[in-house]
Parts: sequence; C-alpha cells; structure tokens
Amino acid sequence: IDDLLSDGVAGKRVFVRADLNVPLDGDTITDDGRARAVTPTISKLAEAGARVIVASHLGRPKGAPDPQFSLAPVAKRLGELLGRPVAFATDTVGESARATVAGLGDGEVTLLENLRFNPGETSKDDAERGAFADQLAELADVYVGDGFGAVHRKHASVYDLPARLPHAVGYLIETEVTVLKKLTEDVKRPYAVVLGGAKVSDKLGVIDHLLEKADRILIGGGMAYTFLKAQGHEVGKSLLQEDQVPAVQDYLERAKARGVEFVLPTDVVAAPDFPDLKAQAPTNPVTVGADAIPADLEGLDIGPESRKLFASKITDAATVFWNGPMGVFEHPDYAEGTRAVAQALTTASTSGDAFTVVGGGDSAAAVRILGFDESKFGHISTGGGASLEYLEGKTLPGLAALED
Ligand code: 3PG
Repeated sequence: IDDLLSDGVAGKRVFVRADLNVPLDGDTITDDGRARAVTPTISKLAEAGARVIVASHLGRPKGAPDPQFSLAPVAKRLGELLGRPVAFATDTVGESARATVAGLGDGEVTLLENLRFNPGETSKDDAERGAFADQLAELADVYVGDGFGAVHRKHASVYDLPARLPHAVGYLIETEVTVLKKLTEDVKRPYAVVLGGAKVSDKLGVIDHLLEKADRILIGGGMAYTFLKAQGHEVGKSLLQEDQVPAVQDYLERAKARGVEFVLPTDVVAAPDFPDLKAQAPTNPVTVGADAIPADLEGLDIGPESRKLFASKITDAATVFWNGPMGVFEHPDYAEGTRAVAQALTTASTSGDAFTVVGGGDSAAAVRILGFDESKFGHISTGGGASLEYLEGKTLPGLAALED
C-alpha cells in the first residue's frame, strides 16, 4: 500500500476488501475490533485523496438480501471511527452502488452492502464468482486487500477481484502476517498453544500441524470433552464429537511420542442445562472432576484447579498462541476459565516478556468483552479461521491473490 500511495491515488477509485464481520445484537455492534483494525488503511487512502469503496461480508446470508445481515449499522460506526462520513450503498453492484461510487469526491468513503447478498460472492462455480468479480471490478481502479479475517475464503471479492485490478496489501494484513510468521518461524520456546471453542473438528488441522511445532498444547472449551472421552472418561451431557474420538486418540499418542505435553482440564464447572444467555439469570453451577462428569450434567467451563494449571503452563512460556474460549464466557457463571487464560497471557507478556497472540473472533471478542486492556497482549488477531489456517501452513487464497 505504501508503494500505491507513493505512486499517487488522488482521484482513483480504490476498492478496500475489509472484514467487517462484527458481532451484532440487533443494530448494536457488541465488539468493533475488526472495524477499528481496518481504519488505518482507509484513513491513509482517504487522506491521500482516493475515492474509497469499502466492502465486506457480514454473517452467512444465503446469497440474497437479508436485513438481519445488513452492513448499515457498521457504516455508521465506521464513519465515527474514521471521523468522516461513510456513504452507504444499499446494494453491492447495483444502482445504489454505482450511483454512490459515481458521486464520491476525492477523499470520500463509501461502504457497499453485504457482499454475500450476491450469490456470486461465495459460489463454488468459478464462472459465477468471476462474473460477480467482473461487476465489482467495474466499480474501481485499484484493489487493496485488507480483510485478513476472510483471506482463507476463495470468494469473489477476496480471490477473483484482485486478479482483475492492480492490487496491494493493506496495513492490517501486513501486520497480521508479520505477527503470525513469528509463530511459525524461529519460535521462542517454550511455545504454548491454548485451544478452546466448541468443535474439535474446526481445530484438527491446526493441532496436526502444531504437534510438530509446539512444546505444550492446552485444551479447554467445548472441544475438551471429546479429548476427555478419548482418554476413557465419562462426560455426561457435555458437548461431544464422538466421530472425532479416534482422531483425538491418535493425536494424544503422537504427542506422547514427540514429547509434546497435552494439558487437559482436571475439573470442570457444570450444570444440568445450558444457560439462557439472553436472560443472563443466575444458574446453579457445580464443580466436578473432569474424569467423571455425572450423566445429568453438562461441562460449561474449566474448573478452578484447571485454571491454576493452565495459568502456570502459560505464564512460564516464551510464546503463547490462544484460540477459542474455555467455556460459555457470555454468561458470568462460566466466564472464569476464559478470564483466567486471558489474565495468564497478559501476565506472560507483561511480567514474563513472552510473545502472546490471541487469535480468533470469539477469543478476541472475549478479551474485550471481559474488559482486558488490549495493549497487554502481544497481538490480537482479527482472523479466526484465517489465523488457524495460516498456522496450519495452508495456502490462503486471499494472500496468494495479492502475492501475484
Ligand atoms: C470470520 O468471522 O472468521 C470471518 O469473517 C470469516 O467468516 P466466515 O467464516 O463466515 O467465512
């Protein structure tokens, strides 16, 4: 982007593919981290006189307009963050988009409606995706890729569009890649990886890859119960991916053979039912041993003993990567595990001089929602699946398209 800026962008229509897939409660953005992260690129372009066309997806609409996934509330917030008006186009390549772009003056910014309202954006059919990319390309002169959270998607605006326009890498992607490289090359040891979240299946690839890199892997959240089951324990009503048990057993054996330490919860906070997150009513949590969760209880967070164990394995590490909450942090009765892990990362980076990275939409949102000071972490990634796939060593379509 610096090369692009020094060549001069005044008067040029610059398409910025951002990831503004922020969590919404109705019209309220509950965590605007992703919007804040892309403002340096947009501001720099606008200050240089570009006519900036920002575009993103939000949620997973089914290829047609759906008001609950409109980016309109995000346009408002983006305007506040940029300190300049953001004109909102109510479609992606239709009349509104064309008119809004045509009406842009130098240094002005517009946000297009959700790209996924058009079926061409996510289509598996190259021709359909290409046709949508052709229409998007007509709107702009130059492309800047800065939606790091979406670079693992082979989507029209991420993969096909940069091939149709002169293109550059934005500041956010540049920072993310620089940081994530530090987790794959010349890593400072001990290297601890903390994984949580609901599904083991989402993390299989990264565990597979990290078995070759990490010194210890800590497992919490919903996925921990499949690990506990693989060790022969009863998990009651807890989340379980039975079909993944053999894969997990294989990982545990390979980890042993390689001398990688797998750390699982020793106790869990459980309840008979999943809490009502809207009502936020108090529940009746009990702490039980992780090796025998009663049949009528569901594990919803790691327990106090596990929190201490996890914290000790994090605070003496030199590099820490964390992806996925330890429990249902959205309810105060089950937030302590996630809080303890976040706290341990800040201790590791501030007192221990460790390099700590929070990756993933949910864990990044948890850090902010639980009130942690973001500056106490080495880096908070805007990428969930993208940062995991980067660490898996995969080729990410949105990065490959920009390298060309
Ligand atoms: C994310 O939230 O990880 C990115 O915005 C990508 O969203 P997706 O998983 O719906 O493609």
